Amino acid sequence: MTQLTQGAGQRLLTRKNALGDSRLEDTTTWPGAGLADGEIELRLGRFALTTNNITYAAFGDAMQYWDFFPTGQPEWGHMPVWGFADVVASAVEGVVPGERFYGYFPIASHVRMQPERVTGRGFYDGAEHRKPLVSAYNQYTRVSRDAAYDAALENYQMLYRPLFITSFMLADFLQDSGCFGARRLVFSSGSSKTAYGTAFCLHDAEGLTLTALTSAGNRAFVDSLGAYHESAAYDELEGLPADVPTLYVDFSGNPALRRRIHQHFGAALVYDCYAGSAQNTDFLKAEDLSGPEPKFYFAPVQIRKRNADWGPAIVNERFNAAQRRFIDHVREPSHGWLTVVEETGMLAAQQRIAALHAGRSHPREGYVIRLD
Ligand SMILES: NC(=O)c1ccc[n+]([C@@H]2O[C@H](COP(=O)([O-])OP(=O)(O)OC[C@H]3O[C@@H](n4cnc5c(N)ncnc54)[C@H](OP(=O)(O)O)[C@@H]3O)[C@@H](O)[C@H]2O)c1
Repeated sequence: MTQLTQGAGQRLLTRKNALGDSRLEDTTTWPGAGLADGEIELRLGRFALTTNNITYAAFGDAMQYWDFFPTGQPEWGHMPVWGFADVVASAVEGVVPGERFYGYFPIASHVRMQPERVTGRGFYDGAEHRKPLVSAYNQYTRVSRDAAYDAALENYQMLYRPLFITSFMLADFLQDSGCFGARRLVFSSGSSKTAYGTAFCLHDAEGLTLTALTSAGNRAFVDSLGAYHESAAYDELEGLPADVPTLYVDFSGNPALRRRIHQHFGAALVYDCYAGSAQNTDFLKAEDLSGPEPKFYFAPVQIRKRNADWGPAIVNERFNAAQRRFIDHVREPSHGWLTVVEETGMLAAQQRIAALHAGRSHPREGYVIRLD
């Protein structure tokens, strides 16, 4: 067993029934102390925070997101985040202290894992409690062997990769289904990163009009992106033409808006795709709607399908190429799509989560928390 440093740690716990409320806990860590055979310890270096992380917590029970990193305190959970961590101690062959991995982490300075299926690409955390959970979240990528990795672009990777995989796969799913005959796609929470990433992928699809619905205050930002063909504020929805076959791509999860969509588009609404819940912490509830029943879209399902259709190597290759095009577009300052806001420490994370939960964020900003 090898180890690097020793020190004090911290973790941030989220109150499961009040997601804006969190608590910092000190944890004394002696890296490697008592590390069992087959275990490693990682130190989290940096992670991103977007509305998607609030949704992980909101669906913590419904989608088992609380189960990835149990806290031992039933009322408090670890909100999962995407980030980079360094190995500080290892009792696993093929995983060496000092190596950096990208993946899904608790907001905690240190975490222990039990790597299995260790390859050049990385490993899966084989901890017993994670075995029944969606495997896409159990996978850790060794940055030194990741073709898509660029040390200078870590912030963009953390912010966008988990969202853009959904955007890319959602665009693929919709195109593969001929958009269910729709010629207009109406996105709610059109200012969200996952929504505009999807529009980026579909922008040049023939015969499709992409319409963003957004808050009045975010409309200028949405228009400035140029990712959609048109936009409307939520209260202008009823002014959109209802004579074109229309597909609803719902990133807001707002039930009142969904009802208005069904009422307004009537028979023209061909499909209702429930893809996110930026404005709601409740999961989709059964409702008496006039149009098609909302269908939950979950990226890992389409990833599994394409892994089977194309093989994982081709899926990776196509995704990496699309992601590179997207990130290059997003980070070009003259495009004005993103300002990275880098903050330091757990206290900053705590305040940022409270702000995101309360909807106090600007869609142009991408929040990154540094712990190193
Ligand atoms: N299905 C999947 O597999 C999957 C995967 C990734 C993400 N998602 C979902 O996509 C959604 C967007 O996530 P993101 O990380 O891309 O978001 P983001 O970039 O942080 O989105 C910010 C936008 O969301 C809306 N919003 C956020 N918080 C709000 C609040 N408290 N009240 C009202 N509006 C609020 C606002 O948009 P408007 O003003 O335009 O409404 C805001 O500009 C999340 O629900 C996420 O879980 C789903």
